[in-house]
Amino acid sequence: MNSNIRTAHDIRKSYVDFFLARGHTEVPSAPLVPKGDATLLFTSAGMVQFKDYYLSPENLPYTRAVSVQKCLRAGDLESVGKTLRHHTFFEMLGNFSFGDYFKHEAVEWAWEYVIDVLQLPPERLYVSIFEDDDEAFGIWNEKIGVPAERIVRLGRKDNFWGPVGKTGVCGPCSEIYYDAGETKGCGSSGCAPGCDCDRYLEFWNLVFPQFVLEEDGTYRPLEKPGIDTGAGLERIAMIMQGAEDNFHTDIFQPLVDAVVGLLPGGTDMTGEAKLGINMIADHA
Ligand code: GLY
Repeated sequence: MNSNIRTAHDIRKSYVDFFLARGHTEVPSAPLVPKGDATLLFTSAGMVQFKDYYLSPENLPYTRAVSVQKCLRAGDLESVGKTLRHHTFFEMLGNFSFGDYFKHEAVEWAWEYVIDVLQLPPERLYVSIFEDDDEAFGIWNEKIGVPAERIVRLGRKDNFWGPVGKTGVCGPCSEIYYDAGETKGCGSSGCAPGCDCDRYLEFWNLVFPQFVLEEDGTYRPLEKPGIDTGAGLERIAMIMQGAEDNFHTDIFQPLVDAVVGLLPGGTDMTGEAKLGINMIADHA
């Protein structure tokens, strides 16, 4: 692993610099409450501020963007503190294409950043693709050289993303997983990327927005597909810092320490207390 990239700040900077060098425009994080969008309470993904760009990618100020988006997701509320990896508030690294590049470049750049910049060991990495996405399989396997046994085909629940809200842009996706080791696993014989336990950490999601889900339930193909990436800053920090979980990274540790500092001396910090501390740190 690249020992020069350790802190959350290092990760944000290296990611943005990497995509700036590949023709992307840096766009600031949008507000947590989306402006002028009655369909969403909160910004839940990096693509939210760009939703309309996918629908009509003409006369845009740019067709490639990179951002570090503050996100809020109520959907994972019940998992916060119980798993190593879920949050209600988190930051999402994203590189986006609006009718510009598509699967080939997105996959190649994701892998280049993960292997050459972060220097993650390839023997710890797995990839998932949508069940019938043979094109994505071909890119990962033939072009990038990921062995077929490290590429898993998953169904709609895992590998079809969006839309945010009831209608809008969506598409198949392809994820990169980091094997955090057997000790983090559930031990079941079927434990593999896509398992709900903490062993295979999904830290990078490449969405291939190809459709618009209409109100009548039909999937209309987009005239020009794009790319929507969601890479989890806290999860990458956990990997790069060799942390036990997201709460032991430089992002959350100060909050955890502050909560612990308010508790009476001698409090047992395991079990329910640990769960509560993590939850407060997340919500804070
Ligand atoms: N928009 C991609 C993701 O949230 O994973």
